[in-house]
This record gives sequence, C-alpha cells and structure tokens, in this order.
Amino acid sequence: MNKKILVTGGAGFIGSHLCEELLKDGNEVVCVDNYFTGSKKNVFHLMDNKNFELIRHDIVYTLLLEVDEVYNMACPASPVHYQFNPIKTIKTSVLGAINMLGLAKRVKAKILQASTSEVYGDPAIHPQPESYWGNVNPIGIRSCYDEGKRCAETLFFDYHRQHKLKIKVIRIFNTYGPKMNPNDRRVVSNFIVQALKGEDITVYGKGDQTRSFCYVDDLVSGIIKMMNSKDQFVGPVNLGNPGEFTILELAKKIIEMTGSKSKIVYNELPSDDPKQRKPIIDLAKKELDWEPKIKLEDGLKKTIEYFDKLLRV
Ligand SMILES: NC(=O)c1ccc[n+]([C@@H]2O[C@H](COP(=O)([O-])OP(=O)(O)OC[C@H]3O[C@@H](n4cnc5c(N)ncnc54)[C@H](O)[C@@H]3O)[C@@H](O)[C@H]2O)c1
Repeated sequence: MNKKILVTGGAGFIGSHLCEELLKDGNEVVCVDNYFTGSKKNVFHLMDNKNFELIRHDIVYTLLLEVDEVYNMACPASPVHYQFNPIKTIKTSVLGAINMLGLAKRVKAKILQASTSEVYGDPAIHPQPESYWGNVNPIGIRSCYDEGKRCAETLFFDYHRQHKLKIKVIRIFNTYGPKMNPNDRRVVSNFIVQALKGEDITVYGKGDQTRSFCYVDDLVSGIIKMMNSKDQFVGPVNLGNPGEFTILELAKKIIEMTGSKSKIVYNELPSDDPKQRKPIIDLAKKELDWEPKIKLEDGLKKTIEYFDKLLRV
C-alpha cells in the first residue's frame, strides 16, 4: 500500500535522494525544508510529480500534517554550516525533534531520526559499535551538533518508552555523492571542487586521520530498509561504509581521478577533529540485510562528474 511520507530536510543532499527513492516506490512525499543548506534546485525535477509536495517550513516551529511516516533529516551537517549559528543548530536538533515526535504521536506515524556517527565524538574505541556511548566534548565548537543529536536520540527513546511511539534511529557515517553543497567544505566535496578548479587541496593536520566514506545511494537504501524493518527493531543502527581511508589517501585519489595539477597543502587541525572513524555494521547486516555495495572509486567517479557539470554552468 502506498504511504504518505514526510521528509524533513528533503531539499538537502541526502533528503533529496531519499525523496526520489520514496517517490519511485509509489509513495506520496511531502518535503519540508527551510533552505538553510538545502536548495529547491535539488528537488526541482520532482515538482511535476503529482505525488510530490514541497513546503517551506522551519521544524523549530510546530507543523500539523497527516502522514504515515516521518523521516527527520533536517539539520545542517557540515561544520561550517552547523557552527554558523550553533544555538539554531541545537534548536533544530532538539526543538525540531520534539515537534516532529509530537506530530508523529498525534497521527500515530512511524518516525525515523537521522542521527550521526558524531554521537561517538572523538572515539576512544575503534571501530565503533552501537553499544559505544561515545567520547564527546560537551562545551566545544562541535558540541552544538554532537550534543544536539545525542539529545534528539534521547527524546526519540523517551517518546518510544513513554508513548509507545514507533521509532527508528540510524547513525549515519560520512556520506558523499552528487548534490552535496559545493561550499560546505565537507572533505569529499571540498577536495573534488579544489581539484577541479586546480586550487591547492587543503588537508588538515598531517592527513593521517581516517574516515569511512559511504556513497549516497547505498545509504538511502539502508535508510528505507530501516524504516521498513520490524517494529521491535528501533536501533540505533550504524549506517556507513566500513572501508577506511586516510584523508591523505583520499586527496591523492581525487587528484589522480580528476587529472588535476593541484598541490596538497597542510593546514592546522581544527579542534575536536576526530582522529578516526569507522562503523561496525554487523547489526545492519543482521537486522536489515544491508551493506554498502558501491566502491569508493565508482562513487567518486559519479560525484566528480556531478561537480564537473556544476562548475561549468
Ligand atoms: N552527509 C553526511 O555525511 C551525514 C552524516 C551523519 C549524519 N547526517 C545527517 O543526515 C541529515 C541530512 O544531512 P545532509 O548531509 O543531507 O545535510 P544537508 O545540509 O544537505 O541537509 C539538511 C537539510 O535540512 C534543512 N534544514 C536545516 N535546518 C532546518 C530547519 N530548522 N527546518 C527545516 N529544514 C532545515 C537544510 O536546508 C537542508 O536541506 C542531517 O540530519 C545530518 O545531520 C549526515
């Protein structure tokens, strides 16, 4: 049966891919976004679809809608954007979660929270299982995002315990792909844009910190599988690609794939920058029968093509 689905942050990078997939499955999709980091351009091609509706709204304020499911994706995800107005970031995570949970409670909808690997902070154990409680600085410059997302997880579980709400919590690890914002200085998009423009590639520290990169199509399939999993499985579940690369390896790979003449330069490491990040995805494999399929080279190729086209217009 087709469902009516709300996607908050639906005009953002991951949200817009999610809207596309949910429409392909024959659902009605209501996309809500305040366009802080997202853009109408990301969903423009969906506007002619009779099953798609776009609403400009900020989830810090209440919203009344009748839907069967809510994917709560709204929140700036790159440090440059979430640190632009840290108090607003916390409001989006916390008040936004309260508003969306209230909406779901009123109409008895199932609700999924896009949480993050940042809840593990600068992890003291590696790789990270869901059972790890994290090593988060509560007063640093990343805290508005990390602690906001941690509080949102708490709210989801309290609504589940107190009101029997059907919840799903996913912890997303570094995801990349077309429609990333070219100016948000996230590592993959930043390196690709710098390489394509022939500018210096800025590596923080020595570049020996590691990250795991998941292509957006893989992630979106995991998100939808989580929403459709049995009610008893509420998470949190890690969704990400366990393949681990140093930032320097990534920079070199992108220079090679773009054929760029860019040079690598080394900048000071920002504070609280995690030294390593890699998900354990055994739970997702077991409960969702999910694991990423797209290799880094293949995902990078598609992302480079996207940015190449974008920079030419
Ligand atoms: N991309 C990643 O690697 C990653 C990793 C971990 C978690 N996540 C989470 O996934 C979600 C989507 O991330 P993304 O990478 O697509 O980021 P994004 O910035 O492209 O998308 C976020 C969207 O939310 C919208 N938004 C922000 N504040 C809002 C508000 N108050 N009301 C309504 N809309 C608002 C933005 O305009 C944007 O369209 C976020 O919740 C993020 O924390 C992403």
